[in-house]
Amino acid sequence: MKCKDCKACCKGYFKSEPNKFVCIGVREPFIINNINRECTEYKELLDIKMDKVANSGNDEFYTPLYAVKPIAKYIPRSSKIWCPFDTDDSLFVKYFRELGYEVIATHIQNGVDFFKTDVPDCDYIISNPPYSVKGKVFERLFEIGKPFAMLVGVVGLFESQERFNMFKNHDFEIMYLNKRVAYFKDYGEQKPSLNPPFSSVYLCSHMLPKQIVFEEIEKSA
Ligand SMILES: C[S@@+](CC[C@H](N)C(=O)[O-])C[C@H]1O[C@@H](n2cnc3c(N)ncnc32)[C@H](O)[C@@H]1O
Repeated sequence: MKCKDCKACCKGYFKSEPNKFVCIGVREPFIINNINRECTEYKELLDIKMDKVANSGNDEFYTPLYAVKPIAKYIPRSSKIWCPFDTDDSLFVKYFRELGYEVIATHIQNGVDFFKTDVPDCDYIISNPPYSVKGKVFERLFEIGKPFAMLVGVVGLFESQERFNMFKNHDFEIMYLNKRVAYFKDYGEQKPSLNPPFSSVYLCSHMLPKQIVFEEIEKSA
């Protein structure tokens, strides 16, 4: 059984005593005050989950097509796009090519390290970057100075002092999506694997017409 409106662990609880319920979806189980209300430990759980993703060193979560689609309308059709964290299997790469863009796909697996490579001739830099080094990714993107859009989890984005200073000192825009993005681990299967209890946003620079833009996504699309 899941607590009502569980946005946290999404796993459920067990009954420890009459009227006492323990959440089983986290490393350190805790007593739930009221299973009929939104999880009261939401913030703490989010932090645990974000840490887990960020510190796992496992950045292999891939983006579903419905989350790639909304950024395309902000990229002029004749543009050349660099996807720096993407192989030819990436749905960013496939979808942009389908729409007729010229796409340069590079990935560490093919020997191209985003932090070390020369910037290819391109107009836009678009991807979902490795979470474990997202601060450094944005530093380099601002340094490069080309328009970019990176799909990232919104929780904690501005919370480190380093990132706070970086974003304070640069122009950027955000695209907020109406639904959460469920990432997958296998391009063949595309079965949702990471269902984060937080929203993902496109953090962009010189791409959107306003500092915040709201876009609706259709998860079955
Ligand atoms: C969160 S995944 C997203 C992959 C793809 N962009 C997508 O959305 O389906 C980030 C990818 O960046 C790769 N990566 C990590 N460090 C990298 C680096 N320094 N340069 C290029 N790619 C890197 C990881 O191996 C991982 O596949």
